[in-house]
Amino acid sequence: MSEAQLFAAMTFTEIYERVLVGPLFRPFAEELIARLQPRQSDSVIDVACGTGIVARVARAKLGPGARIVGVDVAPAMLAVARNVDPTIDWREGNVTSLPVAEGERFSVLTCHQGLQFFPDKAAAAREMHRVLAPGGRVAIATWWTLKDLPIALELNDIAERHVGKIVDARHSFGNPDVLKALLTDAGFHDAGVDTFSHDVRFGDGALYARLNAMAVIGMSEKGKTLNEAERGELAARIAADSQDVIARSTKNGAWVFPLATNIATARV
Ligand SMILES: C[S@@+](CC[C@H](N)C(=O)[O-])C[C@H]1O[C@@H](n2cnc3c(N)ncnc32)[C@H](O)[C@@H]1O
Repeated sequence: MSEAQLFAAMTFTEIYERVLVGPLFRPFAEELIARLQPRQSDSVIDVACGTGIVARVARAKLGPGARIVGVDVAPAMLAVARNVDPTIDWREGNVTSLPVAEGERFSVLTCHQGLQFFPDKAAAAREMHRVLAPGGRVAIATWWTLKDLPIALELNDIAERHVGKIVDARHSFGNPDVLKALLTDAGFHDAGVDTFSHDVRFGDGALYARLNAMAVIGMSEKGKTLNEAERGELAARIAADSQDVIARSTKNGAWVFPLATNIATARV
């Protein structure tokens, strides 16, 4: 499918699932679950589940008998999640008021690349603590900041030449000490933060550049003043200017993008 056909045929959430989840999110989701070493007897809640990759990795590891819940505030993300794996209990809700009944508790909570978007992170951490049973374990991942990710920073600089200052929420919560303190302040014990780095490989680096451009345009003041067609044209120009960066790190037909996340773990 050509790039133009892709954009015409799919919604953003379908593109997220079909283009980004496999190469970009899945390896980090697998690492997040591996850090917790869940067993079949565990019950899992994945907060800010998006289209559901972490919950699906948990399902593959724990088998069909495990109780697995995915929660997200965005109905469009959940619609894709339900379509891909109807065996998981997908629930719409906000992290500051999780759709978890008073008597319902989980032994494992995950949150993959969601925390950085929550306006009230302290309230979110307290709510995560509330829905875990005594001894329950949490694992939270947030990307490193742009200054520590040279290729991502270069792409950001190119985009900023077109749209002015970009406040990239995806990379806005990369300080490990702040992450650890957030969990400790919410009442978690044994909090620790580790890192995981992985070379993401995209078969089509130009497509990634275009999707990334669309995302960052939305994070700029200029982007908010444009209509959809204008944003599309601007994204194409930013992607064209990013070609050299992409070509430089393309090896054997795949664009290699070194990416890293902090992973915090703690227990109730
Ligand atoms: C970058 S996506 C990550 C999705 C998924 N965890 C993954 O790894 O693919 C961030 C998700 O956070 C969700 N989100 C943002 N704010 C939220 C909130 N206050 N409560 C619940 N979900 C939220 C978004 O709807 C989005 O699906």
